Amino acid sequence: MISEEELAKLSFKEAPRIKVTPPGPRSQEILSYQKEHESSAVSYSKGMPMALRRGRGATLEDVDGNIYIDMFGGAGVMAVGHGHPVVLKAAHEQIDQITHTLDIPSPTRKNMVEVLRKLLPKELNRIFFGGPTGSDAVEQAIKLARYNTGRNSIIAFEGAYHGMTGISLALTCDSHHREGIGQLVPDVQFIPYPYTYRNPFGCPDEEVDLQAAEYLDRVLSDSHSGYLKPAAVILESVQGEGGTIIPTTRFMKRIREICNKHDVLMICDEIQAGLGRTGKMFAFEHFDIVPDIVTMSKALGGIGFPIAAIAYKDKLNTWPAGKSIGTFRGNMIAFAAGAAALNWMTENHIPERALELGKKAMLPLKKLESESAIVGEARGIGLMLALEMVTDKRSKEPSSEYAQMVRKYGHQRGVMIEVGGHHSNVARMLPPLVITEEYLMKGINILSGVIEDIEAGKLS
Ligand SMILES: Cc1ncc(COP(=O)(O)O)c(C=O)c1O
Repeated sequence: MISEEELAKLSFKEAPRIKVTPPGPRSQEILSYQKEHESSAVSYSKGMPMALRRGRGATLEDVDGNIYIDMFGGAGVMAVGHGHPVVLKAAHEQIDQITHTLDIPSPTRKNMVEVLRKLLPKELNRIFFGGPTGSDAVEQAIKLARYNTGRNSIIAFEGAYHGMTGISLALTCDSHHREGIGQLVPDVQFIPYPYTYRNPFGCPDEEVDLQAAEYLDRVLSDSHSGYLKPAAVILESVQGEGGTIIPTTRFMKRIREICNKHDVLMICDEIQAGLGRTGKMFAFEHFDIVPDIVTMSKALGGIGFPIAAIAYKDKLNTWPAGKSIGTFRGNMIAFAAGAAALNWMTENHIPERALELGKKAMLPLKKLESESAIVGEARGIGLMLALEMVTDKRSKEPSSEYAQMVRKYGHQRGVMIEVGGHHSNVARMLPPLVITEEYLMKGINILSGVIEDIEAGKLS
């Protein structure tokens, strides 16, 4: 396993370093320009106002010279961290060779397929590169499922986030994204995810997972349920934007069995949870199942080069040539960078380390849960970590305000995080997997300090 000293060399030293409370004057200038000339839809720079100059490992520097511990990781993209030297080298070499080939093969493309084939279960032996983003991978997965089954309907889960385009948006639950833009793609229905903290069934908490799985069986078995037999059931192996909700093995196994029983395809969306994040290369491996189709993106391009893919079982390989086409379907730089990153992660046991480090991180996070009156629950698997913020622990009244405050003041004190959850009340951490234990603990400590100050009424 790679040493902490080696990992420390990837990041800037002495993070965090706050020279001026962000946004500093240079950041303010660029933010004003953005506000004036870019769309009002820009969002991350509103939650963490700054302009960025450089990134290294699990640290980022803004244009005012502030250095942050990055526990946001580009929304889960930066598994190997910013500016990873091995990945940069591979990308530079590729730029000098060839950068665009559509789907005409090349040694670089072949290498990426070989790397993925080694990492994926042997049953998922076909790979398709669609458009460059995660949403595109979801589009392809659904199209493939529909084409193979001849059915239209799709079942997804409450709290799901699958993307921002056609079908992927129709599969995304957040009404903020769904409202006000006209008719969404039809034939999508939702069922409850096993969100034990906010138990959707009123049963004992230990039974939420089974209740959720049996709900699927029920709607598929009852001809009066209002659910048409779907082409597929799609779910995140660990629900990300919905608030880092971790299913149980028996839930996932039961969903697999129910899909088999009803001859429905099972799609695992691994765009956020996949590629080492949860402590396994693919999060579904925790649950000892193999889906029929898996989606990948985010960390697949190494250090943020856009690329997305689906892997699927051979029996689904029925598309005729040109059935699903597009200009940007396999970025050569992303292939080179992504393959280098995945190989480096495998050689250095980065997923295994993420699992162990995640367990260590859960100790202070669980301590916060037990000691703080505004942390309802701490959850995590690998380096996918979260604190669900509430105004009151007994009523579990969600507090979006506290989650935003954790992000805002965490940022001001030098730590970047994300906010998600059903009620935008979950402080989410997706640090690069190369973060040192020292920086991770420092980051959590800073966030704990912010939470203490919120509770003490020192921040508003
Ligand atoms: C689970 C999951 N699926 C799909 C997507 C969409 O990916 P993209 O934003 O690259 O389109 C995301 C993005 O956060 C995601 O977390």
